[in-house]
Amino acid sequence: MRHFLNLSDAGGDAVAAMLSDAIDRKAARQGWPKAKPDADKPLADHVLAMVFEKNSTRTRASFDIAIRQLGGTPMILDAGTTQLGRGETIADTARVLSRYADAIMIRTDDHAKAEQLAEYASVPVINGLTDLSHPCQIVADLLTIVESGKALPGLELAWLGDGNNVLASLIEAAGLFGFHVRAGVPQGYEPDTGFVEAARAKGVRVDIMRDAREAVAGADLVVTDTWVSMGQDHAHNKIAAMAPYQVDEHLMARAKGDAIFLHCLPAHRGDEVVDAVIDGAQSRVWDEAENRVHAQKSILLWALGKL
Ligand code: CP
Ligand code: NVA
Repeated sequence: MRHFLNLSDAGGDAVAAMLSDAIDRKAARQGWPKAKPDADKPLADHVLAMVFEKNSTRTRASFDIAIRQLGGTPMILDAGTTQLGRGETIADTARVLSRYADAIMIRTDDHAKAEQLAEYASVPVINGLTDLSHPCQIVADLLTIVESGKALPGLELAWLGDGNNVLASLIEAAGLFGFHVRAGVPQGYEPDTGFVEAARAKGVRVDIMRDAREAVAGADLVVTDTWVSMGQDHAHNKIAAMAPYQVDEHLMARAKGDAIFLHCLPAHRGDEVVDAVIDGAQSRVWDEAENRVHAQKSILLWALGKL
């Protein structure tokens, strides 16, 4: 069963195959209306169930359009309007949805719930974001980096701000593709040690740094995300700790001249990033958001054994 709870479930070769497939499919449908299916309709007659226990714009919309472009049908289940929201177990939900759908995507507050869904489902389960990781986002990010003309091995990626789920999956990708991470994060907000140790064991550098200027110096990529993830307290002391890590023009200018800026979105302008950077020439955030569709398609194809 090809579950995709983290990038390592697929591994580097499969993620590379996803990127290649995404590039080809994206190129093949330039200028097409969004709901027109790809010519080969590889997932014709397939249903993707999507369970949302947290808000989403990009993941929800991009998976919806992705399964349609592959010839299949989306089924969206907001936890608050399902029996899951009234205490039906994850295991029973997994058993039932497996009878209706060919794959299940879940966005949930607790990574253990995604693991449990995978344990009891008889169809592939895809992690659409948990408190621990966000692998689908990172396939889109890798696609955006490759499209910018940069080869992944050896890149220097600077992360600024909270050591969250998105950073965890970026660090996992660093280990799989041989790039290095300099995480400029305040004390107490470091990334998950499991992901850090696993990447280091693969021979890449993952440096935890306190000085934002040092973290970003000479970087090929500058990446940030919200200071307060969904489900976390908007604590004043956290915001104060994050302030020195705001990505502004001065910080961005310390990266390489051809560095690109990424943000998974939604952005909190004036907190983790200023307008001049997110709207500036080095920003690739709108391509990155579009690439969620192309990445999602290749993830679905891999999960369903078509890649
Ligand atoms: N980047 C991302 O996952 O966005 P949504 O929360 O809107 O899905
Ligand atoms: N770290 C953010 C990502 C949102 C796409 C969160 O978990 O809320």
